[in-house]
Amino acid sequence: MPRSEHDVLVIGGGVAGLTLALHAADIRPVTLVRPASDDQGASRWAQGGIAAVLSPQDDFDAHVADTLVAGDGLCDERAVRFTVEQGPGAIDWLLSLGVPFTRDPDTAATYPYHLTREGGHGARRIIHVEDATGRAVLDTLMHHTLAHPAITIRDDLTAIDLIADVEGHCRGARCLDQQGALLELLAADTILATGGASGLYRHATSPNPASGEGMAMAAELGAELMNLEFQQFHPTCLYDPEGPPFLISEAVRGEGGHLLNARGERFMLALDERAELAPRDIVARAIDAEMQDTGAAHVWLDIRHLGEAAIRHHFPTIHAHCASRGLDIARQPIPVVPAAHYSCGGIATGLDGASTVPHLYAIGEAACTGLHGANRMASNSLLECLVFARSCAARLGGPAQPSRAALSTREAGDLVVDIQQIRQWRLAMREIMSRNVAIVRWDNGLDAAAAELNALSRDVAPVVGQATPNAPLASLWHALRLARLTVKAAHARRESRGLHYNPDCPHHAQSPAGSSPLPSRLHLAD
Ligand code: SIN
Repeated sequence: MPRSEHDVLVIGGGVAGLTLALHAADIRPVTLVRPASDDQGASRWAQGGIAAVLSPQDDFDAHVADTLVAGDGLCDERAVRFTVEQGPGAIDWLLSLGVPFTRDPDTAATYPYHLTREGGHGARRIIHVEDATGRAVLDTLMHHTLAHPAITIRDDLTAIDLIADVEGHCRGARCLDQQGALLELLAADTILATGGASGLYRHATSPNPASGEGMAMAAELGAELMNLEFQQFHPTCLYDPEGPPFLISEAVRGEGGHLLNARGERFMLALDERAELAPRDIVARAIDAEMQDTGAAHVWLDIRHLGEAAIRHHFPTIHAHCASRGLDIARQPIPVVPAAHYSCGGIATGLDGASTVPHLYAIGEAACTGLHGANRMASNSLLECLVFARSCAARLGGPAQPSRAALSTREAGDLVVDIQQIRQWRLAMREIMSRNVAIVRWDNGLDAAAAELNALSRDVAPVVGQATPNAPLASLWHALRLARLTVKAAHARRESRGLHYNPDCPHHAQSPAGSSPLPSRLHLAD
């Protein structure tokens, strides 16, 4: 098998991966493995923006306090404070690269850029580029990445697993090229920026979300995973059965949008004093309950009262997309449903992105830093991508680690697998997860999901063992592993907290006096 030597190997090219590459490349050569097509992953589809303390009327303590409340008692306060305090520096860096953040049209404003509001935030603190922030940030980062002499982009490769030496340290990744040939990219340090696991579900807010592949690859090497049971469903994805997945940003509610049920009532008013701006777990659950109660396929999000000019000004992308689907949001309410959006759990890391496996790091949605706890607050995710990519790069600039032992080896089979079969297995997995491990998880549903996923894995395992390596099969196998671990984590949490709601144990579990609730920690071998 062809082998090449690299220094820093980054897998994933969203906001976290590109930020890491740009910072690390000033110190060490970087090889960046990312998909050629930009519609993969989640960064490009982030609409709302980046939460940071930028206004003179805001402060770090307030952002920390709001994040802790949204995280429902499970955030690591050290990670929250670290992230919040690094926020303004990260935004200054993006401004220095030329990200065209939307300016505040009010010339008397105390901060030059417009700050919007989203659920859980007690202040206006979300800096944005119209309603397409992820796309603008990604385009700017990509422009600089392409120009950097110390970054080599490999968009012809897909990483299918990680390589360990005989001591269990990470030594790079095995990849497939476009002809299906296997290559080993050996690296001194490997960084996973491979995204979350929303692709485990039937409906997600982006067209090609990750399905936990990076998390499963890390787990296979022995890395600890954390908090997998906390899968976030965004409350407002456009209900459009014939069209592509499309997010309706929380900023629409931040700027005054109302949620209405099938009877035209503002149901959030009776449920939470923050109404439509309650944290996402609460709003998504309320919408789900409304849909169950009324049998409706969706609820409505009404922004008409803002007026056409304001709607077009604040939400040009959403306005244009809905218009292209035959919906005039200045004149009609928007049909919306919750959809899988963000994985709060992932590879357990420290503040420098280090996983529990030496020389393996994780950043962005693939990681679980402790920032989000049981429920991520809106627009804290791009912030986390930036802050932890920067701190991880600083760690990579530290003293070099000793050289490693010999590599472990792996044989490949020669069975050729039918792509239609892989697609059917993936649909079956998504069906199981969506039915039983989504917004509401009953014990008997979790039991059924565990049994069905085990049966599916038993069907797939012999094929994986004998097959010629191929990217869709590797992705499915990793996704199945992650799905089973997610069910295990959901089963183990004998309480309801944040995004994990189980009516068989509907309350917070009592923690012993003076102690905090615990994150869940899992290894593949558990
Ligand atoms: C949104 O615009 O609602 C998505 C932003 C986020 O998930 O933080």
